[in-house]
Amino acid sequence: MEIAQSSQSISEVPTHIAIIMDGNGRWATRRSMSRLKGHEQGAKAVREAVKGCRELGVPYLTLFAFSSENWNRPEEEVNHLMGLFKFFIKRELKELKNNGVRVNFIGNLKRLPQDIQDLANVALEETRDNRGLVLTIALSYGAQAEIISAVQSLAEKVKAGELQPEEITEHLFSKSLDTGDIPDPDLIIRTSGEKRLSNFLLWQSAYAELVFQDVLWPDFTKRHLEDAIDDYFGRNRRFGAISG
Ligand code: IPE
Ligand code: IPE
Ligand code: MG
Repeated sequence: MEIAQSSQSISEVPTHIAIIMDGNGRWATRRSMSRLKGHEQGAKAVREAVKGCRELGVPYLTLFAFSSENWNRPEEEVNHLMGLFKFFIKRELKELKNNGVRVNFIGNLKRLPQDIQDLANVALEETRDNRGLVLTIALSYGAQAEIISAVQSLAEKVKAGELQPEEITEHLFSKSLDTGDIPDPDLIIRTSGEKRLSNFLLWQSAYAELVFQDVLWPDFTKRHLEDAIDDYFGRNRRFGAISG
């Protein structure tokens, strides 16, 4: 009997790591601080994750920073988060640029305040030619909305007679998503002990390895990243076939 060709033993760092950065609020509440402080600390952990991926040679990192559902949080918290995103992009852009990082965004950016949209565009433009880590920030992102938007754009093409329904393949559909230019995640990490995807990369995570860590996001360090990658090395990715 032939051993399945598509099974893959893992020996290299994941090509694409995606992180659901969760637990900022609990981190602060446990210290009798306002949730807003937790988000401020969370921004520091983002630097750890980016630096860690660069040092470990991970080509793609995607960070879930704000979901479509997070718009339902109290106005004060949403405004504070928007302020932090702005501050973070402004402060980090130069360093990201100098470190060869290419910045990318996914999500419904049109819902964001205009100044953040403008800054996001500056970050895209200024890092466009970089060839190091591709850092994708999911802002105002929800996978179901992303899927619907891809369906609508394909339906428009069919309506215009530019596309036949049978030409809609998994490949074309993937290319129509916000993540069309980046590979599917190999490893998804979620911090804070929650074990769900919360509307993150639902299509793209079809064969992702999932690692759930108890650490609250503000406490996340390079060591947690390494632990998650170690966990990933221990997995046997079969993609529906039989392991060799
Ligand atoms: C993640 O931390 C950050 C965002 C969702 C923006 P949370 O704010 O969800 O923290 P917890 O889950 O309430 O602890
Ligand atoms: C997911 O965390 C979104 C981000 C980390 C940006 P949430 O805290 O919003 O998820 P739920 O509400 O616990 O599912
Ligand atoms: Mg949360």
